[in-house]
Amino acid sequence: VLLKIHVEKKVDSTNNVLKQYVAAGEKQDMVLLAEEQSAGRGRRGRSFYSPEGTGIYLSLLLHPDATPEEGTMLTTLTAAAAAKAIEKIAGEPVQIKWVNDIWMRGKKIAGILTEGSASLEEGKLEYVIVGIGINLYEPCGGFPKELKDVAGSVFTSDLPKENLRNRLAVEFLVDFMKYYQAFPARDYLEEYRKRCFVIGKKVRILMPEGAPGRAESGPGREYAKALGIDDDCYLEVQYEDGVTEKLSSGEISVKVE
Ligand code: BTN
Repeated sequence: VLLKIHVEKKVDSTNNVLKQYVAAGEKQDMVLLAEEQSAGRGRRGRSFYSPEGTGIYLSLLLHPDATPEEGTMLTTLTAAAAAKAIEKIAGEPVQIKWVNDIWMRGKKIAGILTEGSASLEEGKLEYVIVGIGINLYEPCGGFPKELKDVAGSVFTSDLPKENLRNRLAVEFLVDFMKYYQAFPARDYLEEYRKRCFVIGKKVRILMPEGAPGRAESGPGREYAKALGIDDDCYLEVQYEDGVTEKLSSGEISVKVE
């Protein structure tokens, strides 16, 4: 797979720019990196804080020969590749919080936003855009106060780490491409699983009712024990009333007992 590489100084969102490329007929796989985003987007309509010089903001435009269900696994693949690369460059343990948040030292240091479109007739993906944002260090003056409690950064010192930023971006792309070349084979799954820190813990299910994979909530269905991650990356949980369920995506908060 030949990946075209684009680098921009400032964009609204690297995912948005790649969508514009798609609209203009782009058919080749590519990666777009930006130094800064003015309107970085997160999951569930949230924004992603993307100041200049303190993070990696990149998106990949891909055309996998895969179904939409398989396509959702690209997020898992990306999380595994990113966690592996970050741990190698930072030399400190990196965990994944199901589904796709990356954590270090008990704080979120990276998030992933996957978007795409499928052809209805063929049931195949037309394209997928996978965006990842990694906080490399704390911005000058710290994170904005609404993020302070949850957001962390890969590096804790504020020395210029320009070369480390580039090394990390390259390391991530190398790991990503290794897994992606084998996709939809799940070569990344072991790497993902071993970093999932929710397994065996008590979790609070924050997903809305009616979310895919979510049975009726009710008494005894708010808290559950996370049992494991299956091959489709569903989180297997057991509620306090004994019922087990597989959750496909959503929000959980982890309560360490
Ligand atoms: C999340 O944590 O909810 C996902 C955050 C994803 C942020 C990245 S930064 C690069 C790409 N462009 C965006 O606008 N969002 C993603």
